[in-house]
Amino acid sequence: MDKLRNFLALTDLGRDGLESVLEDAMACKVSRGTGRGSKDLDGQTWALLFHKSSTRTRVSFEVGIHELGGHAMILDQGRMQTGRGESVEDTAKVLSRYIHGIIIRTYEHGFLESFAESGSIPVVNALSDALHPCQVLSDLLTLGERFGRPGNLLGALKGKKVAFYGDCSCNMAHSWILGAALSGIELTLCGPEEYGPKPFIQDYLDRAGLGGTWHFTSDPLLACQKADAIYTDVWVSMGSEAEEAARLKAFRPYQVNERIMAGTKDGIFLHCLPAHVGEEVSEAVFKSPASVVFDQAENRLHAQKAILSILGKSH
Ligand code: CP
Repeated sequence: MDKLRNFLALTDLGRDGLESVLEDAMACKVSRGTGRGSKDLDGQTWALLFHKSSTRTRVSFEVGIHELGGHAMILDQGRMQTGRGESVEDTAKVLSRYIHGIIIRTYEHGFLESFAESGSIPVVNALSDALHPCQVLSDLLTLGERFGRPGNLLGALKGKKVAFYGDCSCNMAHSWILGAALSGIELTLCGPEEYGPKPFIQDYLDRAGLGGTWHFTSDPLLACQKADAIYTDVWVSMGSEAEEAARLKAFRPYQVNERIMAGTKDGIFLHCLPAHVGEEVSEAVFKSPASVVFDQAENRLHAQKAILSILGKSH
C-alpha cells in the first residue's frame, strides 16, 4: 500500500492495503486483553469531532485509542469556534499544531476533504453523508471471519454474493459499492428506483481503477437469490428526518424478513446499527442465529485499531 495519509474512503487503502488491514485487525482481535497488543499511539493525542450522534463509533474509537497507548480527546462542537464561523481550513491548521490525528463525523464529505487538505495530521472519516468507510471495513472483517480464516480473510470473499436492501442512495450503500469492488464480492443493491446509488460513486471507482461488480434491482425476491449475506440499514438516515413519511412508505416492500432470508444460500444477516426493528428488518430475522450484527459492532473496534496503528506510525 502507498503511504496512507488519511482514511476518507475505503479506496484509500487499495486492495493490498485492505488485505493487510483485515489481517492486522484480526491480529488485534486475537491479542486483545493478552497484554501483547501494539502501542502504536504511545504518547499521541487524537481528537474526535462529531457533528452527528454516535454510540458505536465514538466509544470504539475512544477505547481503541486508549488500548493503543494514546489519549483520546472529545471536541465539543458546540463550544468550538467553528460554531461561531471559524473556517475549517484555519481550524485544521491550528489543531495540526497540537494533536496527532483527528476522527470526524460530519454531514458534508467536503468538510473532511478540506480539513485533510489544510491540516498536516491524518483525518479519519467516521461517517459523512457520502461514505462510512470504518463501517464497511468492519463488515468485511465480519464476513472474512465467517467465510475465511486468518491469512485468507480477503481472499475468501471473492465471488461471495451480498444483497443490500433499502436505501441504496445512502452512505452505507455507496461504501458497500467500494467494498465490493475491492474485495471481489458480487453486490446486488435492491430498493426503489428513485433511491438508487448516486453518480459520484463511479468517480471513486474510476480514480481507483476499479471495475464495478454491482448491479441494482427493484425486485426484493430476486436480489436475495443464493445470497451469502443480506445487509440493510435504517430507512431514515440522520439528516433525512423531514422525509420520514415518504421513506417509510417507499421502503416498506424492502423489509428484510423471513421471506427474503428464505431465498438465500443459508445467508447471514448484517446491519450497521442502530436498527429500527420492525421497519427495515423483522424482529425474527434480527434475533435469528443468522444475525451477526453484534459481531459487526465489535469488529469496529478491531478494524479501527488497525487503521489507527498505520496512521499513528506516520508520526
Ligand atoms: N454504525 C454506526 O456508525 O453506529 P453509530 O452511529 O452508533 O456510531
